Amino acid sequence: MKHIHSYYSPNDLYNRIIEGLNDIGKDLSEVTLDDLQPVDEFHIRGSVATKELITLSDFTPDMHILDVGCGIGGSTRRLSHETGCCVTGIDLSDEYIDAAERLTQLLSMQARVKFHAASALALPFDDNTFDGVWSIQMGMNVEDKLSWLKEVYRVLKHGGRAILYEVCGNKNTPVHFPVPWAQDSSMSFLVPPEAFRDVLTSAGFDIDVWNDKTDLAQQAFAHMTEPTGEPDLPELGVHMLVGNDILTKAYNLHRNLDEERVSLIETVAVKP
Ligand SMILES: C[S@@+](CC[C@H](N)C(=O)[O-])C[C@H]1O[C@@H](n2cnc3c(N)ncnc32)[C@H](O)[C@@H]1O
Repeated sequence: MKHIHSYYSPNDLYNRIIEGLNDIGKDLSEVTLDDLQPVDEFHIRGSVATKELITLSDFTPDMHILDVGCGIGGSTRRLSHETGCCVTGIDLSDEYIDAAERLTQLLSMQARVKFHAASALALPFDDNTFDGVWSIQMGMNVEDKLSWLKEVYRVLKHGGRAILYEVCGNKNTPVHFPVPWAQDSSMSFLVPPEAFRDVLTSAGFDIDVWNDKTDLAQQAFAHMTEPTGEPDLPELGVHMLVGNDILTKAYNLHRNLDEERVSLIETVAVKP
């Protein structure tokens, strides 16, 4: 797990994001969720997907939700902002959690949105704590998916919904690397959708919603071409999270989607 931790550990991340905001002329006292979206919603289809997941969630303002693998907290904050619920985010990366906390303060959202550095395989919470769980594109980095999903099940209250949005494998192998979540195969653990579904039910969940979003992912990456020369990167972007080879990673994701090597699943799993 150490190499996954170091993959997601850029130096001085918060200050680099602040520099990026300054470079595009944002007044720091007026930064919005949408201003941060290019860097803080690190998943396929960004805030559009987050909004679809929020609609699916049925989460209400009285709820306390856990975000497992929250990154720097873009969708954690958006979930709280749109539903009014309290959200606690956990992530393996201390550097991401530091940026998540400071960005949340910048947006004055710290009363309802909190963060802790922790592993999804050992959640630092009691059984039956949360009204709902939310986990967005983290599972690709987790080899022991049953332990991750059993932990989610353990901390969720009975009747609670787990909203999961995950990259899975597909008919063909191998995956072209690097991809946005992994430099090479030692960090990526994709299983086909049916196997992911089986792990969810083995952990004890009932499946309430199961949507294949691969087509939408393909459309989102259809314009990607093989990068050449020095990358022309924006002031704010997910290259700040995982390196300047992001265009190669995005191009490989496009190839993997088109060649049916990866798929994208959105699901709601319920703890009975
Ligand atoms: C592709 S990013 C997605 C981040 C966030 N959910 C988002 O959508 O912006 C994957 C995240 O999973 C985290 N992660 C990977 N393995 C983890 C684990 N075992 N426990 C907790 N977080 C993990 C990484 O540190 C990274 O922040």
